[in-house]
Amino acid sequence: MAFVIAVDGPAASGKGTIAGRLAALYGYPLLDTGLLYRAVGVGVLASAGDLDDPIAAQAVARALDLSDLDRAEVRTRAAGEAASRVAVHPGVRAALFDLQRDFTKRQPGSVVDGRDIGTVIAPHAPAKLYVTARPEVRAERRWKQLVGQGEAVDFEDILADIHKRDARDGGRKDAPMTQAPDAVLLDTSEMTIEQAFDAARRIVEDARARHRL
Ligand code: DC
Repeated sequence: MAFVIAVDGPAASGKGTIAGRLAALYGYPLLDTGLLYRAVGVGVLASAGDLDDPIAAQAVARALDLSDLDRAEVRTRAAGEAASRVAVHPGVRAALFDLQRDFTKRQPGSVVDGRDIGTVIAPHAPAKLYVTARPEVRAERRWKQLVGQGEAVDFEDILADIHKRDARDGGRKDAPMTQAPDAVLLDTSEMTIEQAFDAARRIVEDARARHRL
């Protein structure tokens, strides 16, 4: 079985940085599944479509090209908001399923970062992390990141975005954001990135030992 490392958690929890560093450490390919939903959101907006229209969003998801993930626009605040809105459509999630599932079959392993990796995309992943942090801490990290990218954004607006995203991503019965029962919870609120990465690495090493890798 491929050694899939599933890294789930809410927006701006630090999961992207942790996933990227785990991928570099083990030499595994990385899939940031948030970028898929962001690219769908950006695609709908580019065609002047309605983010809340499931048919329009599903059509964009089906035609998604992986090169769309490299565009700088997918990393903006607007793209994150659009992603969260298109992600509620089951047809969009279904259209993106095979691409994600196929990625998890890569040998000898992969790192996949998202919301539903440990529950839906790779329920048999041998290593699962659920990375979280308090909303205020996540808002501060996201604010610094966006300011670093040159976006003029207000901290209070970003905190409101985080609360809205949490409610949308995790607030429904069929919502993507739930911790898998066998995922290890990693709360990074009081941790530096070094400490968080170190804790994540230890969780993965435990899983590797269990799988005798
Ligand atoms: O991780 P991110 O902020 O780039 O994700 C953007 C949005 O995409 C997020 O608010 C919810 C959605 N998403 C999802 O529903 N399922 C995933 N596996 C990844 C992201």
